[in-house]
Amino acid sequence: GALGPHGARTAPSREAAPGPQRAPEHGGGAGRLVGRPVDRVDGPLKTSGAARYSAEYPYPDLAYAALVHATITRGRVTGLDTAEAAAVPGVLVVITHHNAPVLKPPPPVSVMNLSTLASGTSVAYLNTDEVHWNGQPVAVVVAATLHAAQHAARLVKVTYQPSPATVDFAAEEPNAKPQKSDMLSEGSAEKGDAEDALAAAPVSVDLRFTTPPHTHNAIEPHATTAAWDGDRLTVHDGSQNVAWTRDHLALRFGVPASGVRVISPYVGGAFGGKTMVWAGTILTVMAARVSGRPVRMMLTREGVSRTVGGRTPSAQRVALGARRDGRLTALVHTSVTQVGRVGGHREQVTSQSRHLYDAENILLRQNLVELDAVSNTYMRAPGEAIGTFALEAAVDELAFELGIDPIELRMRNEPGRDPIDGRRFSHRKLREAYALGARRFGWSERTPEPGSMRDGGWLVGMGVASAYHPSLRLAANVTVRLSADGTVLVRCGFHEMGMGGATAQAQIAADALGVPFEAVRVEYGDSDLPTGPGAGGSAQTASVAASLSAACEKLRGSVLALARRSKDSPLRGHRAAGLRARDGGLWASAGGSVTGETYAAILTRAGRPYVEAAVGSDTRAGTAVGQARFMTRFLLDRRRWVKAACGAQFCEVRVDPDTGEVRVSRWVGAFDVGTVINAKTAASQLRGGIVMGIGMALSEETLVDPRSGRVMNPGLGGYHVPVHADIPPIDVCYLDDPDPTMPLGLIGVGEVGMTGVAAAVANAVHHATGRRLRDLPITPDKLL
Ligand code: MOS
Repeated sequence: GALGPHGARTAPSREAAPGPQRAPEHGGGAGRLVGRPVDRVDGPLKTSGAARYSAEYPYPDLAYAALVHATITRGRVTGLDTAEAAAVPGVLVVITHHNAPVLKPPPPVSVMNLSTLASGTSVAYLNTDEVHWNGQPVAVVVAATLHAAQHAARLVKVTYQPSPATVDFAAEEPNAKPQKSDMLSEGSAEKGDAEDALAAAPVSVDLRFTTPPHTHNAIEPHATTAAWDGDRLTVHDGSQNVAWTRDHLALRFGVPASGVRVISPYVGGAFGGKTMVWAGTILTVMAARVSGRPVRMMLTREGVSRTVGGRTPSAQRVALGARRDGRLTALVHTSVTQVGRVGGHREQVTSQSRHLYDAENILLRQNLVELDAVSNTYMRAPGEAIGTFALEAAVDELAFELGIDPIELRMRNEPGRDPIDGRRFSHRKLREAYALGARRFGWSERTPEPGSMRDGGWLVGMGVASAYHPSLRLAANVTVRLSADGTVLVRCGFHEMGMGGATAQAQIAADALGVPFEAVRVEYGDSDLPTGPGAGGSAQTASVAASLSAACEKLRGSVLALARRSKDSPLRGHRAAGLRARDGGLWASAGGSVTGETYAAILTRAGRPYVEAAVGSDTRAGTAVGQARFMTRFLLDRRRWVKAACGAQFCEVRVDPDTGEVRVSRWVGAFDVGTVINAKTAASQLRGGIVMGIGMALSEETLVDPRSGRVMNPGLGGYHVPVHADIPPIDVCYLDDPDPTMPLGLIGVGEVGMTGVAAAVANAVHHATGRRLRDLPITPDKLL
């Protein structure tokens, strides 16, 4: 009906609220394109089918590969009967540890060489008879057709000698060990005596939260097409880091990295799951080596579930103590997460709790259990996605105990400097984000009493939570070429998984050089390009933008130098500082008159087909010295500033009291993300994060058999991501206020949208029903 879940009060969604400040001027372009909702260049290619994905590259004599997954938790392969599989017509070879070529082992991880982080796991696939998790690949079938490969894979008979295994996260939780910190981790901290302060606090909450594991379910499952030519290797692989993938494959197969090319111009979504190199990629390359043919492998949803890591489960304690006026005296946040025994990302679950509240006493601790499971990995806002759930739900519970509005409670504890170490925030507009969001959402219409708002048979609840994600800048090499015909070519090996990165960089280049958007072409997604940053940590756009802006400035200087060499140039005698790049050239205005000339005129006169500028990252394509220098600067910057995107999430739910069904009926997200380069793609990123957060809150859960460690719902039939009917119109707005310490003032938008979402939902469910659900996902059975 008209007053159904997607209620009539839904405000029309707007791309951006008018900000208090405009985007900064840069490069003389006066922000003509930066900030605008420019359509994505890759959009029509993707929607029309013209964009070619990794599994769509044609090769003559292409063969197909399929995986055989272990069905025991841990142990050894004692027998492999491949005769029946090999007899299937079209089967070229069945590769097992008996006949696989020997690869070099995965390198140990070192922060001084970040590409060592590319090892999804430490397992030497098919070079060992050991099984480390239920689902590990133990054989690969290569055949002339996809169906022959998949059919034959089912006919491989494997026998095992099992050994004892540890797979039950809940059972292991009491045995968790303190997580080791390194120079990049922020999760452990201590100020004062938080436990004492908690015991003495007049009002307190002490709560346990649990979140399940999550599986990567991007629209495009992982796929690889690999072709060898002697020792040269070409790989099409949906990737968030083509340079890491190149380096990793070169190292494992013992060939020079210069002969390995990883091509990945279109990626059908990736949220951390395509950053590392997983079994499918390595074994496709191996299959091509062994069969002597180009080989393609498309993982099924089951294949992704079994061989690609996902998000760790967590158990968290958040305890808050406050005076009656709401000032926090104690904040305790501890976590237990898992890694695989064969590797895994150590999640920084408590890191946001270091920066969000000005508590007098703070204690943050992270603990780990090691399980016989595939390595867990990055998944959108690793750490903060689940960490903000616990923290922000606990803050809501404290607000309720205190009888203080949850926004007001947050504002009373908003820090001026970092609560732990007093570092300055480079940018912090959380107050403003709450004010903006509350206005757009209509927070003042909320009556605080749980169960007090209804719409027909629905219980209506409104919840709020803070979003927080650190902002990061990585190294990037960029070249920019300006041709005599006025066109511009930007080249950088960054990645496009659907977020519009190339469009944003084209906007920046067009502004910086004063050329039309259509004149700029951006090449990306290829390891033969100048090495770019990985698409991770919400860092890609800012990282490329920094080098791109510098390259454009250098290019303007080169063009001016070229012009000044000619006595015929009106730019003779002019300095770069006095010029503006616009209308396809450089122009000086003085006393009402304008002089200058177009790039085309300058280059044509000089007889130059093009001028090019290159800006090297601080990594110099992987040299140890360059990486050490980049890391040193990074750490110095971090010692000085706390940098983050933050925001306020507003959720309205309707709960059916008879069935326990929760429908999200309205959403407003108000964010502080610095300069917005593209109003359309930035809003889309934030909205996508909110959608993923709603999935986390209400439906997503990887079900692991606690006896066997086997994932029991390896497909979209059993793993429930939100569909369109689950998502209301999402109103996203931001302050568009530049961060003075970040390139062009921009803070990444890729991950912050997901943070705080699950807490806002849980808080809204409490407001609707009076029930606190501290175990995700909030499914109907838990509400009844
Ligand atoms: Mo992300 S989890 O940095 O792709």
